[in-house]
Amino acid sequence: MRTSATCRSILAASVLLVVAACGGGSGTAGPSDLESIPELGPWNAGVPLPAEPQESGDPVRGRHLLLNGDFMTCGVPWKIYSNPALRDFVARGFGGGANAPTIPGREGNNAELPYYMNAFTSPDGAEVVNANCLLCHGGTFNGELVIGLGNANADFTGGFGDSGVGGSLPPALLDALGLDTAEKANLQKILGRGAVLGPTTAMRTIGQNPAEMLAVILMVHHDRDTLAWSDDEVTPIVIKDHDGSELVDVKVTSDPPPWWRAHKKNALFYNGMARGDHRGTMALATSVCVDDVERARQVDEMFRDIQAFVGSVRPPAYPFEIDEDLAADGHALFVQSCAGCHGTYSANEDEETYPNLLIPLNVIGTDPMVANAGVVHAPELVDWYNGSFYGQITRMEPNDPFPGYMPPPLDGIWATAPFLHNGSVPTVELLLKSSARPTVWRRVDLDSRNFDQEALGWPWLEVPVPQAEVPESERELVYDTTYLSQSNQGHPFGDHLSDAERRAVIEYLKTL
Ligand code: HEC
Ligand code: HEC
Repeated sequence: MRTSATCRSILAASVLLVVAACGGGSGTAGPSDLESIPELGPWNAGVPLPAEPQESGDPVRGRHLLLNGDFMTCGVPWKIYSNPALRDFVARGFGGGANAPTIPGREGNNAELPYYMNAFTSPDGAEVVNANCLLCHGGTFNGELVIGLGNANADFTGGFGDSGVGGSLPPALLDALGLDTAEKANLQKILGRGAVLGPTTAMRTIGQNPAEMLAVILMVHHDRDTLAWSDDEVTPIVIKDHDGSELVDVKVTSDPPPWWRAHKKNALFYNGMARGDHRGTMALATSVCVDDVERARQVDEMFRDIQAFVGSVRPPAYPFEIDEDLAADGHALFVQSCAGCHGTYSANEDEETYPNLLIPLNVIGTDPMVANAGVVHAPELVDWYNGSFYGQITRMEPNDPFPGYMPPPLDGIWATAPFLHNGSVPTVELLLKSSARPTVWRRVDLDSRNFDQEALGWPWLEVPVPQAEVPESERELVYDTTYLSQSNQGHPFGDHLSDAERRAVIEYLKTL
């Protein structure tokens, strides 16, 4: 067992704050791994994306802002949230539940809030609550909250922020709730924006994430130059397929990646399209209530530090037994077949390497939607973004030099089911054996303690019918890979391994 006792005891804490560097490779690692990568391999098709200068910030202040700050600008009045009868309703509107874990050490009203919400004073003086980044970037593994792990249990089947009340509440009700002018204004604002965002961001399956469409909606409802919000689309919404044809009523899913990859990646997002300093796209995610450039600038200031915190996050250590001999066999196989794309790993972070490749779609062969036609592939949206305040910080350069995906760093990969950018594959074993992947499958349940240590991922059941034919009570646990953006094809790079070799590679991945 390489896993150190300290790391395991951190995992055992009720809330896991991932800051310690607990990862580390098995057996000898470092420069010799790099030299042992075969010269010829599918990695030759990849193009390295270059490093670019990043602004520095204070990760400690960043963590504090992330968990207490007012970067969401508006929210639901605290008076409403603090009413026990309305609490769960508000929490569900954000895609979570009111009984989610809390994080110790947060300030004021935040101390009692679910981890994915912040309580703060809005710029116009109201005490409000809104979701923070952990709604999508705080997940549970083995029953423990892990900050930075993608949230595979968020329920966006009702859409993002849609309260279901149709965008506003009658004035008499607002008076009855005892709200002052600023609180009323905040409530009406967030209900109105939720009503715009909700329908377009509704997903088919619990855990599917609407961030791609959310970004599109945030762009088309803001004026590019002034950032003034409009309930109507300012730029017509255009989602195009790779052949340029327009798609209507699209649902695009992507699986929130863990934050501990960010410090290795020169370009962010699965398709590597975010270039330059990375604050811009993070701040865009908070623009729901931003109405002018001055406010965007204030929020951006906070993201210098929040970005530094994101970059400081490291994966937890595997909390179960590891067979060291088997892992050493897997290590050698990994260097032969995988490291050319995914990098080399070591107990000493400074010895690790990560090639930052973009792999062309025809080589990786996974679902083309996000690479090709995803979030901002429509040229109109790329122009909106790059011409906006946010584009001055982070450039959006999809398809540069070609559409594809970046092989992610595999640190802590065991914690991150489901797999591939669209979450279409429930275990690492299936990821490494493409012929065995199920077309329609369901999670057994949403309990993160229910973990398959052999296959490294979620226990799952094959579903013999399309999702639409599954009884409604179970439908939201079902993933149907036949829908647009949800294909489970591609990544054939583990197919040549024997079952025993695959087992060994999986054992090695537990050490990362
Ligand atoms: C609605 C869910 C959601 C929210 C809220 C959200 N994100 Fe994300 N985030 C995602 C998804 C999904 C992706 C992957 C998108 C892609 O790569 O195409 C992502 C990608 C990222 C990445 C890139 C990681 C990588 O490996 O390339 C970073 C960094 C990030 N988010 C930070 C943040 C921060 C900071 C916030 C808070 C301001 C935030 N996100 C809010 C869902 C969300
Ligand atoms: C040619 C480059 C290449 C090779 C070789 C390769 N991969 Fe990958 N891998 C990728 C890319 C690109 C992705 C992301 C694809 C996507 O999400 O659509 C990926 C995704 C993955 C994922 C899922 C990551 C996640 O977050 O869901 C795992 C696990 C993985 N690879 C393991 C391996 C292992 C183990 C090997 C060796 C047997 C290997 N890969 C070989 C390019 C490669």
